[in-house]
Amino acid sequence: MLRIGMLTSGGDCQALNATMRGIVKTVLGNSKEQVEIYGFEDGYRGLIYGKFRILTWKDFSGILTVGGTILGTSRTPFKLLDEPDENGMDKVEAMKQTYHKLNLDVLCMLGGNGSTKTANRLREEGLNVIALPKTIDNDTWGTDMTFGFPSAIDVATRAIDDIHTTASSHGRVFVIEIMGHKVGWIPLYAGVAGGADVILIPEIPYETKNVIKAIEDREERGGRFAIIVVAEGAITKQDAALPKKEYKAKVAARKYPSVAYEVADDIAAETGREVRVALPGHTQRGGAPSAYDRIFATQCGVEAARAILAGESGFMIAQRKGSMCRVPLGDVAGKLKYVDPESDLVQEAKLMGISFGDEA
Ligand code: F6P
Repeated sequence: MLRIGMLTSGGDCQALNATMRGIVKTVLGNSKEQVEIYGFEDGYRGLIYGKFRILTWKDFSGILTVGGTILGTSRTPFKLLDEPDENGMDKVEAMKQTYHKLNLDVLCMLGGNGSTKTANRLREEGLNVIALPKTIDNDTWGTDMTFGFPSAIDVATRAIDDIHTTASSHGRVFVIEIMGHKVGWIPLYAGVAGGADVILIPEIPYETKNVIKAIEDREERGGRFAIIVVAEGAITKQDAALPKKEYKAKVAARKYPSVAYEVADDIAAETGREVRVALPGHTQRGGAPSAYDRIFATQCGVEAARAILAGESGFMIAQRKGSMCRVPLGDVAGKLKYVDPESDLVQEAKLMGISFGDEA
């Protein structure tokens, strides 16, 4: 008997179900042993508190195109892992007990950075763990791509496309805030795909005067409106120079709900232009996975299944230079993948006139 545990952890995305389907269909279709699938509910919480469902082939049929996760998810912060829960329960010990009680051969964890740190901790504690790189943010170190990212680019691009028509009718400046946590992958890709005039990302600190110059240059060339894509983690050069603690305190005291409102206010104050803010927000994690995401999710699932069938674990499934591969969990844990300001896409975007607010 082959016993596989499975959980989805952290913020959801569109291709979680597609990935689990890839794992399960491949294992069930190729295993010589009988297989039992234990689906833990709401992320690591299910593993901690022993909340699971035994799943069959039927549960994974018809879910390729369904966003979200059939298992439910939750955030279980890594930094609180060693703090006992409200009833004094040791979470790590509880997870180990559930794993051993069910006699699991392997645990598949579909999650982002924090969740991968926990997966690595469980590996260090002796559990067989395979991580799969989930997150719309694409910030997981060790893989060129995460599932969720392609769909989020599409949603964000559609939002930018839709804003174009109304921005054009009214001759307004629009500031569109795009998700991505501490990195700028989605804003960069969606900004280029959506024809943004300015893209502000955390990896390239900006100056408001440069953003305004870009708007004015566009106006001089006859542009009636402007589209500014702002990453939720965008930062000014001045703030980037602050010590981390000081910057955090500044953000906490900020009168704006998020960075886009501050950027919009600064532009309006300096230029007297009519400026509006739009936030696609969690729609970027919602809806059906894009075709590309379904393919990549399926590849990740199949690669994990191959490892399970071979009795191998202790790594994250990844893609590098177009090929599927495995990266040791110990190498991945705790590292973020940032946009390289010198990367081809940033340089190409600059060459064709997109401003990143770093230079005039
Ligand atoms: O990690 C995915 C993500 O959507 C980030 O882009 C964003 O910063 C965060 O999650 C939002 O988290 P929550 O769903 O908890 O509001």
